[in-house]
Amino acid sequence: MDANRWLAFAGGVSLGVIADRVLPPLVSQAMPLGDPFEALVADHRHFLNLLDQMAQSRGRGVVWRTQILLRLKRGLTAHALAEEDVIYPMLDEQAHAERAAGALYSDHGLIKTHLYALERGLAEESPWLARVGTLRNLLERHARQEEDIEFPRLRALMDQDGMTRLGRHIRREKAMVL
Ligand SMILES: [Fe+2]
Ligand SMILES: [Fe+2]
Repeated sequence: MDANRWLAFAGGVSLGVIADRVLPPLVSQAMPLGDPFEALVADHRHFLNLLDQMAQSRGRGVVWRTQILLRLKRGLTAHALAEEDVIYPMLDEQAHAERAAGALYSDHGLIKTHLYALERGLAEESPWLARVGTLRNLLERHARQEEDIEFPRLRALMDQDGMTRLGRHIRREKAMVL
């Protein structure tokens, strides 16, 4: 590669890297904002759907398991970041639901432990499938707690401006991962 082409290539790479780091937050602010809690509920449905696919994947092989696990991990990481940095502090500080927030943080710790074990155990199908079932049960219970109790508790405290700000904040957090 001659010097000019190399420079163009290197420039392209660094622009790509910069775009990767800078654009998601910009894009996240430009996108239309719906009900931020509904977006989190939609995430829950997506995760449970992925876990159902994983639970029914006997015979699919390690490459398939790796790919779907990465999709789940990436989505859960972004979702957890938004909840841990935005939603749970609000529960603690604004709704005075310290104990509920603590329990939800601790569920996230357990979820991460299962993700780690699933990643380590990709080669062994049966124990992997069993752990997928355990994670699905945990996630379903955790999501129900958020959807039925904690999100409504926060929604009741917020006006439309607050909802808009919250939606923007959540999108910015998620964009750091996605
Ligand atoms: Fe959560
Ligand atoms: Fe959640």
